[in-house]
Amino acid sequence: MERPKNPTATTTTAQATTTTQATTTTQATTSGTLTITRPDDMHVHLRDDDALLAVAPHTARQFARAIVMPNLKPPITTAEQALAYRSRIVRALGPSSATFEPLMTLYLTDRTEPAEIKRAKATGRIYGAKLYPAGATTHSDAGVTSIARIGGVLETMAEEGLPLLIHGEATDPDVDVFDREAVFIERTLAPLIEERPNLKVVLEHITTAQAVDFVLAAPPNVAATITAHHLLYDRNALFRGGLRPHYYCLPVLKRHRHRQALLRAIATGSSKFFLGTDSAPHPQSQKEASCGCAGCYTAHAAIELYAEAFEAVSALDKLDAFASAHGANFYGLSRNQGTLTLRREAHTVPNSFPLGPSNQGSLIPLRAGETLGWRVDTTLTGHPSHARYRSA
Ligand code: DOR
Ligand code: ZN
Repeated sequence: MERPKNPTATTTTAQATTTTQATTTTQATTSGTLTITRPDDMHVHLRDDDALLAVAPHTARQFARAIVMPNLKPPITTAEQALAYRSRIVRALGPSSATFEPLMTLYLTDRTEPAEIKRAKATGRIYGAKLYPAGATTHSDAGVTSIARIGGVLETMAEEGLPLLIHGEATDPDVDVFDREAVFIERTLAPLIEERPNLKVVLEHITTAQAVDFVLAAPPNVAATITAHHLLYDRNALFRGGLRPHYYCLPVLKRHRHRQALLRAIATGSSKFFLGTDSAPHPQSQKEASCGCAGCYTAHAAIELYAEAFEAVSALDKLDAFASAHGANFYGLSRNQGTLTLRREAHTVPNSFPLGPSNQGSLIPLRAGETLGWRVDTTLTGHPSHARYRSA
């Protein structure tokens, strides 16, 4: 079968509305290079076993640190499991682990105890706890069935300064799949923020104008990650000339006007928005199936894809802060020391990557077999800072 071609042109007329953030290290030069502070991916799925070996090097090549999602099978529900998973990531990376810091997370369930939150925070290696509404997405069946069940946990998280990372989609089957984020914001997130003004909250992978407006209007303890694929594609990408499973993710791609709202959000330079790829590998056989898995794989070219989106709204000067400052500041981390350079150089994305024997096959990356206009220079300079909380 012919591999999907890029289904959506990425030129856009979205305009920046305001400019609030000056960047310090970005240099777009006439020679066609762009140098930014070494970035952080504040939302990634690294999986385990063979798949971990296959995908972690892509993330570690570009990013100094990454917030690692805990939705393994079984999920990472205890501090001890998170530390063991962290060791497996470090082992999988071998020598490249010297320049990459995995920032671990816990998976919340109805049975998570406040004491587990305290244990997690005390490790100094765990930077958030993820709320998957039960049934909302991949491996979320063990997730939280009602916020009311985790009141004590949320209270402890607020006290401990441990951010709550939210997959923000309503799970009521009567809610249209394209409305799930907006309904979650209205029914669950807005009351939660009201009730817990001291809890740090990241609304992950936002996809709608409602989410952009909500986050912009919310107090400083509320922020959001934005993926490259939600910036580059709208829901037409899923159906261009046939069903395109490699564009299927959750929250699902939305209509054009929502993508424009996301582009406007990044172009403002607001510190409430930061980079989180939600790169989510699945074997080709499980994507191209009668009931295919949700997830777009972007780690192979994450910064290149973001650069394309920022350039489309003439906001390349905002990429540095989005990718390396806003997230670090929100999590209370110091900024990375090194830099990463992108060059304007057309190159073709591989058709697939091997995913290891136990996955029986390949991983199809976003843009497989197509051209990218930016390329990351693999020479890294400086050393990433070690992840740590600032003492203030
Ligand atoms: O598209 C997605 N894939 N969305 C998620 O929330 C989970 C992720 C995965 O783990 O595959
Ligand atoms: Zn995710």
